[in-house]
Amino acid sequence: MIKENKQCIVVIEDLTHQGEGVGKIEGFPLFIAGAVPGDKVKVKIIKLKKNFGLAELVKIIKPSEDRVSSICQYHNLCGGCQTLTLDYEAQLVFKEKRVKDALRRIGKIDTAIKPVLGMENPHRYRNKAQFPIGYSEDKLSIGFFQRGSHDIVSIDDCKIQHPFNSKVIDIIKNYIRANNVSIYNEKTGKGLLRHLITKIGFQTQEQMVILVINGDTMPNEEELAHTMTQTFPNLKSLVINTNTKKTNVIMGMNNRVVYGHNYITDTLCGLEFQISPHAFYQVNPVQTEVLYDQVVKLADLKGDETVLDLYCGIGTISLLLAQRAGKVIGVESVEAAVEDARINAENNQIVNTEFYAANAEKILPELASQSVKPEIIVVDPPRKGCDKEVLEAMVKLNPSKIIYVSCNPSTLARDLRFLEDNVYKTEMVQPVDLFPNTVHVEMVVLMSRVEK
Ligand SMILES: C[S@@+](CC[C@H](N)C(=O)[O-])C[C@H]1O[C@@H](n2cnc3c(N)ncnc32)[C@H](O)[C@@H]1O
Repeated sequence: MIKENKQCIVVIEDLTHQGEGVGKIEGFPLFIAGAVPGDKVKVKIIKLKKNFGLAELVKIIKPSEDRVSSICQYHNLCGGCQTLTLDYEAQLVFKEKRVKDALRRIGKIDTAIKPVLGMENPHRYRNKAQFPIGYSEDKLSIGFFQRGSHDIVSIDDCKIQHPFNSKVIDIIKNYIRANNVSIYNEKTGKGLLRHLITKIGFQTQEQMVILVINGDTMPNEEELAHTMTQTFPNLKSLVINTNTKKTNVIMGMNNRVVYGHNYITDTLCGLEFQISPHAFYQVNPVQTEVLYDQVVKLADLKGDETVLDLYCGIGTISLLLAQRAGKVIGVESVEAAVEDARINAENNQIVNTEFYAANAEKILPELASQSVKPEIIVVDPPRKGCDKEVLEAMVKLNPSKIIYVSCNPSTLARDLRFLEDNVYKTEMVQPVDLFPNTVHVEMVVLMSRVEK
């Protein structure tokens, strides 16, 4: 009899999308955080739902051959690296299966999935961190949210982040204590300091620190800037971002530069990019080059094509393709990112690009009814995928190729199905591991127009 609080022994067969181990008791699946495929574990059932149960890991009876020891002291608490204790090769196999399952189940797409392109050193790969600030058990904490909650796990170091973060955390904690800075309370909406955000250019080593506050100014900002610049000779930007809204969205609209510029620069695939506080920039620059190489290869440009790059961010893919195309039109909703994209084109002496600051779903139907005739459309939407209006306008624009870059297998599968139902065929699916030690996976897909 399966009931709550009962203890039982299960062998882990799979992982959920959230990275919990899946083991079955009498054919009924239990999800167990901290267990990896191949583990034989004793668990306690915590909650039963209609189709699955949640269980707590009590004891590992026999560890999986794919289990590796954790290199992070916060792993059991922090919600970040869900697959840190799974051997890296096994992580890649899991991601390939995850993509395949979603494409088959949701999209009914049976195109072969290529093996995931993994990373040589899957640690210290992130160039951006967003740390919530708060109190946990009355102790000042800067770190990450605990798995499934808004309690903060205070951390000194994160093994997938650049080591520079540890020092920044230390300085901000000292600054908070020395200046009696109040900390934002999510429940009451009172208190000043909310989040610490860091960005670093891996090639240039240029650093940006953003403090998100529930107000306009911080005490002794100049002194903080002085301490920061003394500690970090590569600090290029210290920014105060104002967010006074009671919301889970981390950044508010307004930035004020306390030190340096409103951007840092980095180089990627031989081009230089300016990145401002609100602009998206892929978080794993080593693997981003692998991803973008795939896009360039699949585009296979001859030199005179018109390319549409939707959801273009600061124009990274646009500029890479512009070097090989007749013209590239980029569309992006964040105005600051579009400004970066235009400056990036200029700084790299690329003259055949045009960028629009607009929502893709709004501008694309307009472009489709004008005389724009792209041979290739590249899309790289956020996790929710493309709006129906975007997909419909893409079909209307009738490109011979669509290159779809995605970080969410489920919405990718849904959108590929729409395009397959509208004269496109999925030719190739290449997953790339942009997020080692987590459940997330990036994919690049080539679709071609089926000639009737
Ligand atoms: C996954 S990022 C890709 C950016 C870029 N292609 C890159 O590789 O750096 C998605 C981008 O889409 C933008 N975005 C989100 N919603 C949008 C919309 N409705 N229309 C246009 N751009 C949007 C985001 O601001 C973000 O820059």
